[in-house]
Amino acid sequence: MYNVAIITASDKGYAGEREDKSGQTIEELVTAKGLHVAHKIILPDDRSMLAKQMMTLCDQSIDLILTTGGTGFSKRDVTPEATADVVERRADNLTFAMIANSLQYTPKAMLSRGIAGIRGNTLIVNLPGSPKAVRENLEYAMDAIIHGVKILK
Ligand code: MTE
Repeated sequence: MYNVAIITASDKGYAGEREDKSGQTIEELVTAKGLHVAHKIILPDDRSMLAKQMMTLCDQSIDLILTTGGTGFSKRDVTPEATADVVERRADNLTFAMIANSLQYTPKAMLSRGIAGIRGNTLIVNLPGSPKAVRENLEYAMDAIIHGVKILK
């Protein structure tokens, strides 16, 4: 059984002003693949809070951290920077593949700056913020992500 943590980066979600639909979508999709969601966390778009939370989850031997939101061009979008603060080894081709696949849905996929990488035994993957984008990315990449997690165990 693999343990997953979902982090939604959203100022509005953290303030209780917006429902966390993307986090719910991730939960549905990973649960359908037989993974266990151990944590579902909403944080503001704050680089150090996001990085600290990711480090804590890696120390708790979470196998996979999926983040949603904060990957775009808005000044508050810092999820990729927080992730880069935490990972020891980058897995850029995972992101490149997801973006290449997403271009069939929208050319705006190229606006996501999300990254992926490994800290210890934990894989971290940034996903864009909308439920639609989450679904398009995970339906395509989830099997490869699970294979990667298996190798890290
Ligand atoms: N990827 C997919 N598959 N589908 C989408 O609809 N939306 C894009 C992009 N990636 C999208 C996508 C858009 S419009 C933006 S602005 C960026 O993700 C960044 O989103 P974020 O700031 O919510 O993380």
